[in-house]
Amino acid sequence: MELVTSKVLLKQLLDQARQSGTIGFVPTMGALHRGHLSLVERAVAENGAGVVSIFVNPTQFNDPNDLLRYPRNLDADLKLLQSTGCRYVFAPSVEEIYPEPDTRVFQFGSLETVMEGKHRPGHFNGVAQVVSRLFDIVKPDRAYFGLKDFQQLAIIRAMVQQLQLPVEIVPCEIVRETSGLAMSSRNQLLSPEERENAAVISQTLLKAHRLAGKLSVGELAGHITQTINQNPFLTVEYVEIVNDITLQPVSGWEEPGTKIACVAVWCGKVRLIDNIVFN
Ligand code: PAF
Repeated sequence: MELVTSKVLLKQLLDQARQSGTIGFVPTMGALHRGHLSLVERAVAENGAGVVSIFVNPTQFNDPNDLLRYPRNLDADLKLLQSTGCRYVFAPSVEEIYPEPDTRVFQFGSLETVMEGKHRPGHFNGVAQVVSRLFDIVKPDRAYFGLKDFQQLAIIRAMVQQLQLPVEIVPCEIVRETSGLAMSSRNQLLSPEERENAAVISQTLLKAHRLAGKLSVGELAGHITQTINQNPFLTVEYVEIVNDITLQPVSGWEEPGTKIACVAVWCGKVRLIDNIVFN
């Protein structure tokens, strides 16, 4: 495994690697956990070479304190990646990715006016800026993204379509802790007590799955909100039950298409997201 910080060098190395196989890419912001490692292992298994980027992207943080507090530990990340078979780790500086400010404004229409897009203005524009730059450097055949960030996945698919990029986007299942809590870099910021209580989020979603169809969509969203808010450590920011393609709220179970409940919940100062597909 080789650590690379220069985009010019990475491009050269990957031009060589591409001659003997496909490139599988996992973009991350570091603070790696088992969820990330499962993406990397899959990228390595399905391609000639696996590449991971570790870059805390400033343009996707709408809250400066969130950017400051975001966990960073490159040494620990590199240790975790050793056993995955990943060939290159790209850990560039901010100047390397943004030699000049990125002023591009992407248009994702109704995909970005709901949920995370509504509550974190500018977030998805920043995600599209950095992922398009990383794709331009790595030129992956396949890129792997976790389904926990369900809306991010839809945005990245839309971006790939808009820019006509020849990359296959591979969605990967959510990896959970034994308690059910969805793995997230932000879990590192939780106290042990908060971490235990945060498991109520996924437990509530799992119970909601059994109630779908028995309660109306509105009742179920209300039930999820109330149950999570009953826990003194947790405060719901939103609960939305949406169509999994359009991401628009659904009003009845009889509507066509797969439905998914997406939630954002504050646990102390840490914002967590999770979701469950009703199928
Ligand atoms: O999901 C993430 O960790 C980030 O949004 C990503 C895709 C690496 C872009 O910075």
